[in-house]
Amino acid sequence: MESELLERIKLDGRIPSHVAVIMDGNGRWARERGLPRYAGHRRGMVAVRDVVEGAVEAGIEVLTLFAFSKENWQRPRPEIAALMALLKRYADSERQELKAQGVAVHVLGELDRLRAGPRAAVERIVGETAAGKTMRLNLMISYSGRDEIVRAVRELARRARRGELDPDEIDESLFGSVLYTAGLPDPDLLIRTSGELRISNFMLWQLAYTELYISSVYWPDFTREHLFAAISDYQRRERRFGRVTAG
Ligand code: FPP
Repeated sequence: MESELLERIKLDGRIPSHVAVIMDGNGRWARERGLPRYAGHRRGMVAVRDVVEGAVEAGIEVLTLFAFSKENWQRPRPEIAALMALLKRYADSERQELKAQGVAVHVLGELDRLRAGPRAAVERIVGETAAGKTMRLNLMISYSGRDEIVRAVRELARRARRGELDPDEIDESLFGSVLYTAGLPDPDLLIRTSGELRISNFMLWQLAYTELYISSVYWPDFTREHLFAAISDYQRRERRFGRVTAG
């Protein structure tokens, strides 16, 4: 049965095309229960499953999840290993289901830094779900916003050096085309869980006009109903993109 909130947001109709999420609070969720941080990440994976299903139900076209930042490589080795093992487990266990739901999984970030096991699992899920038309799911892994911008600058500089590009031709649209998110609309809504008021080096270019929604819920407790609540809040916003209100 559809939830009342889901019915309400669908009735309104203004479903954000692209929703991005900073999944935060796994560690605190675990600490409050006297559990190791790993337990928080494991429950976080369950939340990922629920929110992905909810996003499909709501009719979101692109869902982008910040799963592992470039900075996260500085965490203790056992925690990194646990996160990578979870990523592999997620990719292996969800592949068929996501394919059946028509979800096309993409992984954006420094995939070449992953070990062979998780990388192969990720490549398999990306390859096997590629034809999905219902929703695109971006898993941001070993990703940071500044790094993405620096890479884009390098790519454009290389083109200019080869004589393929006149620097005066560089505009926002060309710049956007050399980011990981090339061809995608910018996020309409950014959700951050666990109450922190930071962007944390996430999608710095793409979030220019994105509506922000901060939830106090820790990520492992975040459900599709919380996602619907965020969309409902978004539907009450007036987006102006720097202009004045119409009318
Ligand atoms: C932030 O919590 C979360 C992460 C660093 C990792 C996110 C990973 C998952 C949700 C699980 C696996 C995901 C997939 C896609 C399989 P934190 O550890 O920074 O929490 P804290 O701020 O409370 O310490």
